[in-house]
Amino acid sequence: MVALAHRLLPAEPYTSLDAYVADGGGGGLAGARAIGPGATIDEISLGGVRGRGGAGFPAGTKWRSVASAAGSTKYAVANGAEGEPGTFKDRALMRANPYAVIEGLLISAFCVGAKEAYLALKASFETELESVRRALVEVEAAGWLEDVTVIVATGPEEYLFGEEKALLEVIEGNEPLPRWLPPYLHGLFATAPQLGWEAAEPEPGEEGGDESNPTLVNNVETLAQSAWIMNHGAEAFRQVGTHDSPGTILCTVVGDVSRPDVIEVPMGTTLRDVISACGGPIDGRTVKAVFSGVANAVITADHLDTALTYEDMAAIGSGLGAGGYIVYDDSACMVEVASTLSRFLYVESCGQCPPCKLGTGQITKILERIRDGKGTEHDLPEIEKRLRFVADGNRCFLPVQERTMISSILREFPEDVAAHLDGFCPSSRDVIRHPKVVDLVDGVVTWDEKQKLKRPDWTYEEA
Ligand SMILES: Cc1cc2nc3c(=O)[nH]c(=O)nc-3n(C[C@H](O)[C@H](O)[C@H](O)COP(=O)(O)O)c2cc1C
Ligand code: SF4
Repeated sequence: MVALAHRLLPAEPYTSLDAYVADGGGGGLAGARAIGPGATIDEISLGGVRGRGGAGFPAGTKWRSVASAAGSTKYAVANGAEGEPGTFKDRALMRANPYAVIEGLLISAFCVGAKEAYLALKASFETELESVRRALVEVEAAGWLEDVTVIVATGPEEYLFGEEKALLEVIEGNEPLPRWLPPYLHGLFATAPQLGWEAAEPEPGEEGGDESNPTLVNNVETLAQSAWIMNHGAEAFRQVGTHDSPGTILCTVVGDVSRPDVIEVPMGTTLRDVISACGGPIDGRTVKAVFSGVANAVITADHLDTALTYEDMAAIGSGLGAGGYIVYDDSACMVEVASTLSRFLYVESCGQCPPCKLGTGQITKILERIRDGKGTEHDLPEIEKRLRFVADGNRCFLPVQERTMISSILREFPEDVAAHLDGFCPSSRDVIRHPKVVDLVDGVVTWDEKQKLKRPDWTYEEA
C-alpha cells in the first residue's frame, strides 16, 4: 500500500487563500522576509529540494548562484508550461493549490532580489490560468506582494515552450526557440551579447552598459516544495524521502493502467507501488515498459521495484524525469512506441541546430519503415550512426533525449525489432499515438488529438 502524502496536493482543492493559510501555508513568505535572503537560501539548501522540471538540480544552489550573480536587474520565473508527454502534475498542482506556487515564487524572487516575477503557462491551460489569476488577486489583497509585481505570461503549445531558454524568449514575445546562454547568464530582457568575442557583459551590472539580467527559472512544483520548506522547516521536509532525494514528489501515471491519476508520494516509493496506486495494469495484463516522459531511458518490467529517487533511477540507467510515467503493457509494440516518441521529438525540434532536426527526422523515418515491416538489415546501423551525431552543436537537451530514449528501446526490446525486420508485428493493438495529456479528471485522460496532425514545421494538417 502506498502512503499518499498531502503536502502540496490537499485532499480537497483549496478554494480560497484562507483555506491554504488554515492548513499551515502562507507563513513561509513572511518568515523568509524576516530572516533575509541568505538565511532563506540556507534553509532551502538544508531541505535539499531538487528541481522537479526534470533535471533535479538543487534549488538552493540555483537560487544562490542567481542571487550572487553580477547584474543590477534580476527576475524570477515559474515554469508552468508543462509539455512533457505523460505529465499532468503541474496542472493538478495549479488547480488544487495555486497558493503554494505563488508563495514559492515570491520567496524565490525575494531571495534573488527580483522586483518582477513571471508565472508562465500555456494559453490553452484555461482552468489553471483562472486558478492562478484568482489566487493572485487574493494574495495581493492579503498584502503578500509588497514591492514585487507578478505577471502571468501565456505561451504556445510547442514542447519547447517549457525549455527554460525558450521560455524566456516566449515571455519576451518571441517564438519558443531556445537561445544560447542559460537564464542565469542571459536572463529576461538582457541586452548583453550572447555570442562572439565580446559575448560576456564587459562590466556585469555596470550602469548604462549591457545588462545580463540573471534570471531564476524553476518548475512550479519546485517552487511549491520550497514554500513548504519555509512553512514547515527543512527538517520536517526531510522526514520523508532519502538523503539525496528528500521530500515528496507529485507523480502522474497514465497509459495502460486502470485509473490514471496524479498522486503525491514520499520520494523513495517504488515505481511498482505508484503504478498500483493508479490501479495497476488493465485486465490481468503485465507491465512491459514505463517511460518517465521522453527524456530518459525506458524502464523495463524487471526494474519496477526501483525507488523513485534521483539516485535509484540513475542507478538503473534511467531518470526520475518530471515524475510523469507512461505505462505500456505486454500488448504494446515497442517499435511502434519508438517511432511515435521519436516522431514527437522530430516534430517538436525547432530546427535551429541542423543535426537535431535532420537527425530526429531521419531516425523517425527509418523507425516508421521498420514499424511498417519494410525495414532492412541496414536500418539499425543507420539509426545508430544518426544517434551519434543528432546532438552535435545542440542548443538544448531535446536531441540528447532522442539519443537516450531511442537507443534504450532498441537495446531493451531487440525481439520486437527483430520481429518487425522479419515482417511480423507481435502487437495486438495500437499504442497511444501521442502521449501528450490535455486533461486528466477522475481517472480519464484526454490525449492531445491535435498533436498527431502537427507537421515538423509546426503547422497543422486539416483534421
Ligand atoms: C525540450 C525540453 C522541454 C522542457 N519542458 C519543461 C516543462 O514543460 N516544464 C518544466 O518545468 N521544465 C521543462 N524543461 C526543463 C527546463 O528547461 C528547466 O530545466 C526547468 O524549468 C528548471 O526548473 P527546476 O530546476 O525547478 O526543475 C524542459 C527541458 C527541455 C530540454
Ligand atoms: S537542439 Fe534541437 S530543439 Fe534544441 S534548439 Fe537545437 S534544433 Fe531546436
